[in-house]
Amino acid sequence: MALQLGDTAPDFEQDSTEGKIKFHEYLGNGWGILFSHPKDFTPVCTTELGEVARLKPEFEKRNTKVVGLSVDPLADHKAWAGDIKETQGHALNFPLLADPDRKVSNLYNMIHPNANDTLTVRSVFVIGPDKKVKLIITYPASTGRNFEEILRVLDSLQLTANYKVATPVNWKHGEDCIIVPAVSDADADKLFPKGYKKIKPYLRTTKQPNL
Ligand code: BEZ
Repeated sequence: MALQLGDTAPDFEQDSTEGKIKFHEYLGNGWGILFSHPKDFTPVCTTELGEVARLKPEFEKRNTKVVGLSVDPLADHKAWAGDIKETQGHALNFPLLADPDRKVSNLYNMIHPNANDTLTVRSVFVIGPDKKVKLIITYPASTGRNFEEILRVLDSLQLTANYKVATPVNWKHGEDCIIVPAVSDADADKLFPKGYKKIKPYLRTTKQPNL
């Protein structure tokens, strides 16, 4: 069965541009993002990998390691890395898994045969420090991802893991949050000492609690 939110992210050992990766050990106690791309030496993927390299400090600020994957062999990844640096202005600075045996792609259900029976789609898995899958997003090969959106989601996941809040539509770090319905008004008074707005009994907003 395909992986679902709340499942334990499968562990694996696989070669990468930074040597052999033992996935769970590599993530340690932090957060992780595993993302696949369809093929080396392709235009959209080239732009995505350059962008993730550019954003690496932002992922680090969030105690998050990023790991890319494609089914091409390591020698191709290494040759392609030069093109990424040359064309995107950012050198690959995170591991890119080589998955020619499809071991990791199959574990994470990254090949969708009705889209393409050999190449991976653009999957994103966010994995928490407990190694549980917190987010799954899937894009087709033709659409490059918005990694600013992945950072935004990470901010929400990390906030909601620690506070009894949810984040509303289009929320960004620093904006008001929603108090989860399971919290009574009496408990909300204690949990959110800066106060909250009660727009409806089920819709209560408060300042972002960790600021
Ligand atoms: C790309 O990265 O540009 C790409 C890869 C596979 C299919 C289509 C586009």
